[in-house]
Amino acid sequence: MYVNLGYVHLCEFFGAVLGMTTAADPVKLMKQEVGKAAAFEVSSGSIVGLGTGSTTAYAIQYLGDRLKSGDLKDIVGVATSFQAEVLAKQYGIPLTTLDAIDHIDVAIDGADEVDPQKNLIKGGGAAHTREKVIDYLANRFIVVVDSGKLVDRLGSVFPVPVEVIPMAVAPVIQAIQKLGGQPELRMGVKKAGPVITDQGNMVVDVKFDRIDDPENLEKVLNNIPGVLENGIFVNCADLVLVGEVKDGQPVVRKI
Ligand code: A5P
Repeated sequence: MYVNLGYVHLCEFFGAVLGMTTAADPVKLMKQEVGKAAAFEVSSGSIVGLGTGSTTAYAIQYLGDRLKSGDLKDIVGVATSFQAEVLAKQYGIPLTTLDAIDHIDVAIDGADEVDPQKNLIKGGGAAHTREKVIDYLANRFIVVVDSGKLVDRLGSVFPVPVEVIPMAVAPVIQAIQKLGGQPELRMGVKKAGPVITDQGNMVVDVKFDRIDDPENLEKVLNNIPGVLENGIFVNCADLVLVGEVKDGQPVVRKI
């Protein structure tokens, strides 16, 4: 049984969970290609926001490869989550914190949905609160997705994740129902009870019949007492790298 929680084992665990040992299926290939393309957008000397999720994980891996080969020098990362921190350490990327820097040059992060205006839903990994802080601070925010994440309208497929402080879950759920949303407390996988975020809070996933005005919905949700942050990101993505498969080969399209 796997009980050693030493650092090396944590790294192996994340690698396995993220499926980074093989690249057999098309979605993995697309994720790998966009991850690599994003890593090549980073210049030496940059402060880099390191996002969360399976796609960004490849970008972190390729940043580490470029550092190791000497192609890239003197970068420092700012992690959006415990997962990003573990991966940065695994791939040899030095880390800093927001209180030690005055800007972020570029952030690389995934998304769960991207609309034609490059607005996003994020938070599938429950990391959207820290991601929003870091992605919005970056002078350039690069989003990495596979083509399955592109939608005509936000909320088409993915619910909006809302991080809520634990004592406020019940009133927040009621307030969201009054807004017409269908809220569901996110439950853990292989863990009894709810998902707990890196900040010690809970996540309510909210399905809306349609989201006509994401900018307004973002504000309305954040205005409910007890809500820390929601996963709607409006007007912040500078570049979206989309992984696609053409003629059996993974290619990257820029939006
Ligand atoms: C983490 O909370 C999310 O915002 C992720 O960035 C998002 O869920 C995309 O993850 P994948 O790249 O694993 O799809």
